[in-house]
Amino acid sequence: MSSKKIAILGSGTGSNFTALAEQFRDQITLVISDKEDALILNKAKDLNIPTMHVPGGKDLSQRLLSHLEGIDLICLAGFMRLIREPLLSAFPQRILNIHPSLLPKYPGLCAWEQAIEDNAKESGCTVHYVDAGMDTGEIILQAKVPVLPDDTPQTLHARIQEQEHLIYPKAVRKILADLT
Ligand code: GAR
Repeated sequence: MSSKKIAILGSGTGSNFTALAEQFRDQITLVISDKEDALILNKAKDLNIPTMHVPGGKDLSQRLLSHLEGIDLICLAGFMRLIREPLLSAFPQRILNIHPSLLPKYPGLCAWEQAIEDNAKESGCTVHYVDAGMDTGEIILQAKVPVLPDDTPQTLHARIQEQEHLIYPKAVRKILADLT
């Protein structure tokens, strides 16, 4: 088992956090949210993982960085803010994100809605490195799901999330093994 320390950043319900915590509980040493009442913080507290609320706004990446000393890998799990300098340079190839589409298709918000509006026959999810763009970094792992004729945005997102919970831990395991 790697001794590398992981911080998770999220804004929402935290189902990807839970999937990661099932496999890397002892290595997740901090969970940060920009939303004070985000469910992800409650889920982390339930597992006795230290949490922090860092509100969005000016110098967010600088403020996040000041809390990340000793962290080896940052996993964005539904974190709805862009990561900027100086955080990017402080963690080169050490910030990962999960996105609910087969990037480069459907970057940005509500990718599952974009897939339905586009009449896509398949969609999926992507784990990728984070760079200065929105959902543009180098792709690490993807999983496909079908888009069914009677899908609603909710049913498609649920199908995508099942795959997210499989590929995110898999990608993190691979990246941890490669970290020096
Ligand atoms: C996930 O579907 C994730 O892919 C998406 O937010 C959801 C968070 O769910 N992220 C993005 O859209 C990032 N552009 P969770 O809080 O249950 O893990």
